[in-house]
Amino acid sequence: MRREVVLVSGANGEIGHGLIRHLAEQEQVLVLALDVQPLDRQLRDYCYSCIQGDILDNMLLGRLVVEYEIRTIYHLASILSTKAEYNPETAHRINVEGTLNLLRLAVEQAQWQGKTVKFLYPSSIAAYGLPDLETKMKAGKVKEEQWLQPTTMYGCNKLYCEHLGRYYNNYYRQLAADRASVSIDFRCLRFPGLISAETIPSGGTSDYGPEMLHHAAQNIPYACFVRPDTVLPFMTMPDAIRALIKLEAAPKKSLSQLVYNVTSFSMSAQEIHNVVKKHFPNAEITFQVDTKRQSIVDSWPADVDDLDARKDWGWRPDYDRERAFDEFLIPAIKQRYATQ
Ligand code: SER
Repeated sequence: MRREVVLVSGANGEIGHGLIRHLAEQEQVLVLALDVQPLDRQLRDYCYSCIQGDILDNMLLGRLVVEYEIRTIYHLASILSTKAEYNPETAHRINVEGTLNLLRLAVEQAQWQGKTVKFLYPSSIAAYGLPDLETKMKAGKVKEEQWLQPTTMYGCNKLYCEHLGRYYNNYYRQLAADRASVSIDFRCLRFPGLISAETIPSGGTSDYGPEMLHHAAQNIPYACFVRPDTVLPFMTMPDAIRALIKLEAAPKKSLSQLVYNVTSFSMSAQEIHNVVKKHFPNAEITFQVDTKRQSIVDSWPADVDDLDARKDWGWRPDYDRERAFDEFLIPAIKQRYATQ
């Protein structure tokens, strides 16, 4: 008998770490973890099975469906915004072709099983592209359909994959005579910059927030690569996991759209610096602006409108700005480095 599993791609990444533990402990599902790197030892116990492999490897994906009945996919694997600029074509292959492979796998699974397969996809504020800083600061809370002109390969990939999800959800093989009636149930969140207490991001452009915090906690000097007045929306990792789980569980009829903004709090780099200094008074933080990375962040909104997520499926972050730092990030990060 093939076991019913939840597939998590990019399992070893920042979201994967929190999500896998939550799925195994709270949701009692069998997790099939897929990552191009070997899965962290502490995550293995939470997984039913761990596969090391590439989402571009169709043979591998074919073997997975032989062995497992995949009911839900959390497709987290991605090359983030800064890293993607160093090799845009490779990033495109991983971010777009990888997503296409998993969408096709999901649709085939749905047709074999005669049941809808849920496909959860984290998109990003990188899908937005505001033309200049003045527009960004005037734009206020950006809505899902506004300013969709991303300037990075990662942002273009995320936006296009949102469209692919919509296509597979609504129109896949729309002209085929034998078109199946069941398909995928695509659900997508546009995340702000995420801050985890457990892991450090690699290759993103909102990384200065978490990097400032983790460097200070380890007593390592940090040069912030954006101006102090740079504002982005952020969210703690536990809230990001909750958002994914809550969107997955929402009744289909309550969802008025496939792509939802979610956010917790917006902060300037100076304000992050101030909070970090309050808790780690000896932290050495300087500002050394990287103008190219700065212009990427300047094209991302300072805030997003997540009213539809709040209305449709009851989204509400647990951690506002004060609680995020005082009650979660600072104590958890202090504990993380104290026990090393
Ligand atoms: N945090 C991501 C990045 O900086 C944006 O989704 O690339």
